[in-house]
Amino acid sequence: MRFERRNLLGLEELERGEIESILDTAESFVEISERPLKKVPVLRGMTVVNLFFEPSTRTRISFEIAEKRLSADTVNFAATTSSAVKGESLKDTARNIESMGIDMLVIRHSAPGAAAYLAGVLDCPVINAGDGAHEHPTQALLDLFTVRRRRGRIDGLNVLIVGDILHSRVARSNVFGFSKLGAAVTVCGPPTLIPPGIEDLGAKVSFDLLEALPEADVVMVLRIQRERLGDCFFPTLREYSDLFGLDEKKMELAKSDVTVMHPGPINRGVEMTPGVADGPYSVILGQVKYGLAVRMAVLYLLSGGELSSEDTY
Ligand code: CP
Repeated sequence: MRFERRNLLGLEELERGEIESILDTAESFVEISERPLKKVPVLRGMTVVNLFFEPSTRTRISFEIAEKRLSADTVNFAATTSSAVKGESLKDTARNIESMGIDMLVIRHSAPGAAAYLAGVLDCPVINAGDGAHEHPTQALLDLFTVRRRRGRIDGLNVLIVGDILHSRVARSNVFGFSKLGAAVTVCGPPTLIPPGIEDLGAKVSFDLLEALPEADVVMVLRIQRERLGDCFFPTLREYSDLFGLDEKKMELAKSDVTVMHPGPINRGVEMTPGVADGPYSVILGQVKYGLAVRMAVLYLLSGGELSSEDTY
């Protein structure tokens, strides 16, 4: 069976079966990164451009490594050293790059809808690597994959997402993803950082971490996005940390088998202490590791590859 989507723009538009198919396909790509020779010829002859208009460590490098492990030719675009600084539009930038004969484009941009906009003006598949506060679909897919591997299931789990929900594309994509796969999702943070209407996406809301934490099977802590906090959303970082930062004392309230996640980068000592980030419940580096397999699966499926969890490549 083929994956019928031409682009990956967000999890809002995907059906449960499509999400599960990507996760199943990712299973068969995990092992490639454990081989001595970490390369397969799946995308040989194809060119993928990583068009990043916002900073990134994990997502950009993960896509580049995933593309290289699939034998694609990869090109990395950084906005600050491109003709975007001379005022070239996003559309002109992307269409000029596409005219060089590329096969796929990965984009991160600060504008919500930037990936969907390019999908409408380009012929090649477009992958959203984060568009403003809208969606970060490959992050949510790797989060789902990590939880499925760690817990054996997603159905029936209580997932608690804590922090700056208002500015978080990771939160939105994860609310869609975990809800569609049968988990109960609660978002938690100060009222100023909870977007109105989030319940309509399928999440419950809590303003009290101490009350919500004991129920959670999975706690996903989000970064305080200082670069987007133009207004005053809480009195001080210290106060935020006291109420919503995950530390060893609050962890005493959590279930004994709780799974702690963070998409990175972490503000250590603000939303999470180093002891929790590096502690026994944390799967943070596992998220990064599995991100490679998930991105390999997405690249493979959008290139026209067949769905499978059993093939070897
Ligand atoms: N999780 C995530 O998107 O990290 P980067 O911003 O470093 O890519």
